Amino acid sequence: MLIAIASDHGGFDQKEQLAAFIRAGGNDVLDLGPATSDTVDYADYAVLVAQAVADGMADKGVLVCGTGIGMSMAANKIPGIRAANVTTPQFAALAREHNDANVLALSGRFVDLKTNCESLTAFLDTPFAQGRHSVRVDKINALDK
Ligand code: RB5
Repeated sequence: MLIAIASDHGGFDQKEQLAAFIRAGGNDVLDLGPATSDTVDYADYAVLVAQAVADGMADKGVLVCGTGIGMSMAANKIPGIRAANVTTPQFAALAREHNDANVLALSGRFVDLKTNCESLTAFLDTPFAQGRHSVRVDKINALDK
């Protein structure tokens, strides 16, 4: 899989480490920035990942800011994106299983790297359950129009 990733300054350090973790797991990374920990505006980077996923350039997306909240809000403005702001591996698994999340938004300031790596693994490895959940996700997707 090709995973697009980006952060702001609040998530930069973990973005670098999560990108390495993704590569170590055998997936490819499309790092959409930033390239340094200088202060940036999270929406500018969230939209790059969201657009890459929405366009089919990347299979899934990962965003890291201070809380994950701002980047998830921005990403969810892009049609086709279902971004989940997640703080535990259980929520990451459920975001895939029930919500077919295609972007994972993580907190670089309030959640440790080990937990975020576990959430990322759950996000990448858990399939969408389909069935009754497809009806519900279809209703989310209909809100894009
Ligand atoms: C930046 O200070 C901070 O607001 C940002 O990283 C994020 O937490 C926003 O949701």
